[in-house]
Amino acid sequence: MPQTIRRIAINTGGGDAPGLNAVIRAAAIAAANRGWECYGIREGFNGILFPERYAEGGVIRLTRDRVRGIAHLGGTILGTTNKGNPIHYPLRMPDGSIKEVDRSGEILDFFAKKEIDALISIGGDGSLTIANALAQKGLRVVGVPKTIDNDLDKTNTTFGFDTAVSFATDCLDRLHSTAESHQRIMVVEVMGRYAGWIALHAGISGGAHAILIPEIPFNLDAVAARIRERDGQGRMYSLVVVAEGAQPAHGQRAIVAQAEVGHAERLGGIGERVAKALGELTGKDARTVVLGHLLRGGSPTTFDRLAALRFGAAAVRGLDEGQSGVMVALAFPNVKYVPLEEVAGRMKSVPLDGDTLITGRDLGISFGEG
Ligand code: F6P
Repeated sequence: MPQTIRRIAINTGGGDAPGLNAVIRAAAIAAANRGWECYGIREGFNGILFPERYAEGGVIRLTRDRVRGIAHLGGTILGTTNKGNPIHYPLRMPDGSIKEVDRSGEILDFFAKKEIDALISIGGDGSLTIANALAQKGLRVVGVPKTIDNDLDKTNTTFGFDTAVSFATDCLDRLHSTAESHQRIMVVEVMGRYAGWIALHAGISGGAHAILIPEIPFNLDAVAARIRERDGQGRMYSLVVVAEGAQPAHGQRAIVAQAEVGHAERLGGIGERVAKALGELTGKDARTVVLGHLLRGGSPTTFDRLAALRFGAAAVRGLDEGQSGVMVALAFPNVKYVPLEEVAGRMKSVPLDGDTLITGRDLGISFGEG
């Protein structure tokens, strides 16, 4: 029989996504309704590793008052970080070199000392991989899948994705009129890391004429041919959506900064390259819009807010039922629990035989193939 729970802690890790606060609220209230105390760890695990950084303390009590009125707010009241994985913590040595050290012992000691019985860890692949490692070291953990990129496996979708797609679609709607007025090519670069979910869903919904995703290395001659074809039909403008991780069939992915110890590589810049090349190939005016971090801001859509509230409540229910080492997942119409081991370190790419992609082809959208 798992030990009875009296106290739990919650943390948010990785890039922020709309819906984080809704998960925190639901978990804190579901915990309070069971008579449990709920705590929030600041900025990933920094609140435990560097408590001196926080005037209010690195771990704060999440009372009902503290989580009132936050479900609709973007960001996270706890703060977050996508640096400094505690299992491979980058430590600067006296000679200036960086050495990775495992600081998970400090986290486990903190939970034991403060008599906190379990952790709800809200994050993407990086955070859930850390959560899995902590579960294997004996901590009671339930993970919650967050990311605008929607690249986590074993869940129908992550929260944050719908908000990002809705915003990108709205931007595309606005770009049609200016592109048409100037007879231009507008290239819209969207986030998504190595997966093309945001580009595909927003591109189809927003009426793009070409969509370039990491799963299909692209050939710009094919895109230029589609643009010329449109011109020939009197439709003198085109919208092209490019995922930040998309790459040419014969070329490199666009990288802003190389990966370094404790931080993943940063993508970006492919939109400008594509616009320049398409301008040259077609002789048309081309402009680039990079949506970037705008995709992570704003209030969660109703879909994301509800998913996040369901995830937070389900994480607490799971702990109450004795679950550990699992992630709450959406399995329409319900939630389920899947082993963190089956999620950690895996990526969900856009399936090439999925009906969404096929819908795009049926609509005449170019994916830069051929
Ligand atoms: O994973 C979410 C995400 O927004 C990616 O789409 C993007 O590549 C990355 O985070 C950007 O990270 P940062 O906030 O460090 O620039």
